[in-house]
Amino acid sequence: MASVSIDEAMRRAIALAARGLGTTSPNPVVGCVLLDTDGEVVGEGFHAYAGGPHAEIVALAQAGERARGGTAVVTLEPCDHHGRTGPCSLALIQAGVARVVVAVPDPNPVASGGAATLRAAGIQVEFGVRAEEAEAGNVAWLTSMRRGWPYVIWKYAATLDGRSAAADGTSMWITSEAARIDVHALRGTVDAVIVGVGTVLADDPRLTARNLRDGTLAIRQPLRVVVDSSGRTPDQARVRDGAARTWVATTAEVGAGPDGRVDLPALLAELHHRGVRAALLEGGPRLAGAFLAAGLIDKIVGYVAPKLLGNGPTALLDAGVTTIADVIDLEITDVTQVGPDLRITALPRKREG
Ligand SMILES: NC(=O)c1ccc[n+]([C@@H]2O[C@H](COP(=O)([O-])OP(=O)(O)OC[C@H]3O[C@@H](n4cnc5c(N)ncnc54)[C@H](OP(=O)(O)O)[C@@H]3O)[C@@H](O)[C@H]2O)c1
Repeated sequence: MASVSIDEAMRRAIALAARGLGTTSPNPVVGCVLLDTDGEVVGEGFHAYAGGPHAEIVALAQAGERARGGTAVVTLEPCDHHGRTGPCSLALIQAGVARVVVAVPDPNPVASGGAATLRAAGIQVEFGVRAEEAEAGNVAWLTSMRRGWPYVIWKYAATLDGRSAAADGTSMWITSEAARIDVHALRGTVDAVIVGVGTVLADDPRLTARNLRDGTLAIRQPLRVVVDSSGRTPDQARVRDGAARTWVATTAEVGAGPDGRVDLPALLAELHHRGVRAALLEGGPRLAGAFLAAGLIDKIVGYVAPKLLGNGPTALLDAGVTTIADVIDLEITDVTQVGPDLRITALPRKREG
């Protein structure tokens, strides 16, 4: 087998890491490629699920003796702690690896320190190869670990004129089945789905990740969170159906913000505490406005249907903007056609000052 460059090996490790997206939480996605002394690939691995073997351990098991004197190329700094599995730093030392090339340092204070342990054992450690790409592949986990609250994606569906429901309140099926299937796949990649009690009262959604054709539930279900200041969620609401865990977050439990409603930063801190690293905010317009006004949205995924309503509520209500100078600027990062609809992905630009 031909030798590969460190850069190529890291590209492969990043692709491997992506295979764990949606199943590793509260852990990160990680990929590892092991090269022998001639630069040939002798082992590959990725972290597939929390509690399962780490990427380095999988790759080392494949490589066996051929890891000795070789190079481990890994997307995230190897862990240094005894969690559900042993420290990867120790496994790399015991395998006799000579060099470890890392894309991104581990911001998790519990697990970091792997590089220092490896260096103390005489192993050469380098950081920064394809760091931006590796960072993007792990953005939700890295962001949430660095700041202590989940990465929040606001998802909405609207007509081309920005309406989220008709004047009579009906809002089901604004977008196509293809777009709804896409949303269920998106739900499968997050740890929690959040809605306001207004959406529960209006639409009575299930908020599970499931196969839309036959109703089969995905194996891993996000926590369903209803933001409900005074506990108005009915006992018979579908979100309480037992198909997945549900948390009705009230001010009594979370605390109240200045407007007397659920304190959103406190809500997110509690979700982080419960292991939520990525959350999908699915509305409605009032709660989404409050999240945006508080600067708590990291990414926006809008499904725009080629339909017009001309009347009815808009997809977004008060987001704290009253003058054009305060407009929330977005950077569009992707536009994809999903069935007849457009899926637009955008990042809010950070406000100055
Ligand atoms: N097209 C879409 O993508 C989409 C998605 C979802 C919903 N919808 C539509 O949106 C409509 C419902 O709109 P909505 O605005 O009433 O729903 P919502 O945003 O889901 O719920 C709003 C409610 O959340 C509660 N809440 C708790 N803490 C809050 C806080 N800090 N900030 C803001 N709200 C807080 C408030 O009730 P309390 O004060 O009682 O807590 C508030 O009235 C429905 O017609 C639904 O079909 C459309």
